Amino acid sequence: MSIRLSDGTEIPIEMHKIRIVQKTRLAPVRERLRAMEEAGYNTFLLRSRSIFLDMLTDSGTNAMSDNQLAAMMQSDDAYAGSESFYRLEAAVKEIFGYEYVLPCHQGRAAEHLLAKTFVKPGDIVPMNYHFTTTKAHFDMAGGKVLELYTPEALKAESACPFKGNMDLGRLKAAIDKAGPKSVSFVRMEATTNLIGGQPFSLQNLRDVKALIEPLGIFLVVDGSLISENAYFIRQREAGYEKTSIRDIVREIMSIADLCYLSARKSASVRGGMIATNRKDLHEAIRPWLPLYEGFYTYGGMSSKEIEAMAVGIREMTEVEVAGASADAIKYFVGLLLEKGVPVVTPAGGLACHVDAMRFIPHVPQSEYPAGALAAAMFIVSGIRGMERGSVSMDRDKDGNDVPSDMELLRLAVPRRVYTMSHFQYAADRLKWLYEHRELIGGLAFYEEPPVLRFFGGKMNAKGNWGLPLAEAFEKHFGPDC
Ligand SMILES: Cc1ncc(COP(=O)(O)O)c(C=O)c1O
Repeated sequence: MSIRLSDGTEIPIEMHKIRIVQKTRLAPVRERLRAMEEAGYNTFLLRSRSIFLDMLTDSGTNAMSDNQLAAMMQSDDAYAGSESFYRLEAAVKEIFGYEYVLPCHQGRAAEHLLAKTFVKPGDIVPMNYHFTTTKAHFDMAGGKVLELYTPEALKAESACPFKGNMDLGRLKAAIDKAGPKSVSFVRMEATTNLIGGQPFSLQNLRDVKALIEPLGIFLVVDGSLISENAYFIRQREAGYEKTSIRDIVREIMSIADLCYLSARKSASVRGGMIATNRKDLHEAIRPWLPLYEGFYTYGGMSSKEIEAMAVGIREMTEVEVAGASADAIKYFVGLLLEKGVPVVTPAGGLACHVDAMRFIPHVPQSEYPAGALAAAMFIVSGIRGMERGSVSMDRDKDGNDVPSDMELLRLAVPRRVYTMSHFQYAADRLKWLYEHRELIGGLAFYEEPPVLRFFGGKMNAKGNWGLPLAEAFEKHFGPDC
């Protein structure tokens, strides 16, 4: 939630009390430089003990609620027929209005099951934007991911409230070209992770459904950030200002044929699921669950996490929870705009996204500006962000780099974890970095996995630019900062 102060300023206000904390430490800049070098300029390969604030991701890093922790104590560890599963099933029915639910260990497991069941070689899979693991699974099944976003989606600076909308004209043209039988399904991601956490509108979702339903194509929603998408609909879509998040989530689900999600995000727990009212879809996927994940009633999740998920999907529809990170991100983005740092606007759902193309235009895309900015940010602040640019794109079949549509440093805001002073610190260090941006250079791979290279790849800083950057920082702030 945000609250207005007497002078008119709006600030995000925590609608919770902090009762358990984790200690953190700000290592000196030279130590951070060493850690970054050892990690091959890849923030994924840093050890947690070198990190001051971890803004790598909001996945599995949210603060859980007292009610979630309490629910874990009543878990039923039965291999088959666990009562914990039936409590989850009841919560899914209550919140999503869906009859059938298949738990799985996380979002990418759901994607694997969907790919295995529905994506045939030569198929197309239209979507508003891809996510890394989504694309990898659908590609591996022989499908072709088509990203049919509107022109506004890739404009870093924009006032468009729904940059996650599907372009209906492009969707129709793609289906006409491929033929409806070659469309596995249409996927809509609730806040497009890789291009700024941007929502789709309910109207757009309805229009997509109206177009594909008569053709026998079903609609899948990736609901990993469903509560944030619903929160933006409430704030930005005419007619929904007074609708509860719960009712908006329910309406999204009534339009979709199937929803899968990583419960590590909106639901603040470590797990995933696939849910639907369509018996045919459910029965097509179900046989694969025990083979790849685990028995039908646990699907690779611990029963404790299943209990916490049942509570999490109810709590995520409370407006204070749905808005917990969205309002903090809005504040964080506002601070950066005031300081002239180029960021993606409007503020999105999971992170503050810094536009590396405008931040360091002197670093060409072939030298991975978003990766370089993520490394530089860590060196000057101890804050770990994530590269969301060309490093996150795997090479094509001929071994060529695939330049990403955008080059973003993603500073994720896990729900209920960081406070205003953390955002002020982060914004200050980014401002300092922006003022010294000429010190940041490019990166080159020296170790590169064949798939999802951003997780394990290692790079060199071209010209060893990390050292002069750390020296300049040390000169300004002293050796202990
Ligand atoms: C939109 C979206 N879909 C799928 C996934 C994959 O989920 P998981 O990390 O739980 O495998 C993520 C993870 O970040 C995501 O953001």
